[in-house]
Amino acid sequence: VNPTVVLITGGAGFVGSTLALHFRRLSPSVRVIALDNLRRRGSELNLPRLREAGVEFVHGDIRQLDDLDIGVDPQLVLECSAEPSVLAGYGTSPGYVLQTNLVGTLNVLELCRRTGAGLLFLSTSRVYPIDPVRSIRLDHAATRFEIAADQDLPGITRRGVSEDFPLQGARSIYGATKLASELFIEEYAQAYGLKAIVNRCGVIAGPWQMGKVDQGFVALWVARHVYRRDLAYIGFGGTGLQVRDVLHVDDLCDLVTIQTQRFEGLAGEVFNAGGGTECSVSLCELTTSCQRVTGNVVLIASVPETRPADIPLYVTDFSKLTRATGWFPKRSMDTLLADVHAWIRAHESALRPVLDS
Ligand SMILES: NC(=O)c1ccc[n+]([C@@H]2O[C@H](COP(=O)([O-])OP(=O)(O)OC[C@H]3O[C@@H](n4cnc5c(N)ncnc54)[C@H](O)[C@@H]3O)[C@@H](O)[C@H]2O)c1
Repeated sequence: VNPTVVLITGGAGFVGSTLALHFRRLSPSVRVIALDNLRRRGSELNLPRLREAGVEFVHGDIRQLDDLDIGVDPQLVLECSAEPSVLAGYGTSPGYVLQTNLVGTLNVLELCRRTGAGLLFLSTSRVYPIDPVRSIRLDHAATRFEIAADQDLPGITRRGVSEDFPLQGARSIYGATKLASELFIEEYAQAYGLKAIVNRCGVIAGPWQMGKVDQGFVALWVARHVYRRDLAYIGFGGTGLQVRDVLHVDDLCDLVTIQTQRFEGLAGEVFNAGGGTECSVSLCELTTSCQRVTGNVVLIASVPETRPADIPLYVTDFSKLTRATGWFPKRSMDTLLADVHAWIRAHESALRPVLDS
């Protein structure tokens, strides 16, 4: 697609606002409209940045079909709005996560059907069910879990989890809303010719992520070190050996650029997108890096009990993406931490009410 109007739902959020600014930088003639209900604490801090870059902001809620009627037909929709926490709905009502991540996405599909817009959907590695992910065979290295050489399941190698990993089993309410959305994207493609690309993202991180205890752990970890606040290793014995790969949001921008340029050819595909083994980290390694970057040492409690939906390791095998597009992540963990740290230091007092709570 060669869009003249791009709609970004969740456009004031971490990923949405970063992509909105990226699109404006890349093609200043493109109209970029960010729609957001500002539910996420800290998203409001992005509004001046969006305004300065010429991104139009619409205060709207994707749970309301009418709110998606923005007075102009987009050619491309980036669906970046969500309740993004995997813990959403545990111990409380799943109402919000269901209404936003599933019903809201269905409303976005209706918009795409009506306008003929292409859709880029940010799905999640959390579509892969919890029990099979927990049964990935692991080795215990000194500072982290590692993927063992021999595995019983399909779709798991030392590179990580590929699209061939099993999909049967419970996966969290959050993960289920995303997989259900993927199923409806497939149906809309079949029934109405919707053109859509799905990226199943592992952890994404970078500046302007309003990290909190249940979502955005890299920003949270750096912020707690900057503001000298306690942290906790939760689950899997409470020693911080659990591992995630982390995708720098700028690498995601590079990917979305390629996918937009080659939209027709890539539509219909589902990709695992993430930082991969090279950009993976355990919590205790992250602590060491945060100490180095910030010069501060904070108290880290140990909570041995594992919460529902916690997994000891997830690393993305993005080789399908590389084969299809040539893309691979270029930013290292060190670059990521330096960028997040520089961002927090540059906005220390404005971010304090959001990140230091
Ligand atoms: N950040 C990650 O690590 C990660 C990993 C995998 C997938 N994703 C997916 O990427 C997308 C973006 O995540 P993010 O990290 O930017 O999260 P975020 O919370 O920073 O951004 C989401 C935005 O959506 C808005 N929003 C929430 N409910 C809404 C509603 N009903 N109507 C309109 N706007 C609403 C929020 O106010 C927020 O600004 C989400 O779909 C998320 O599930 C994120």
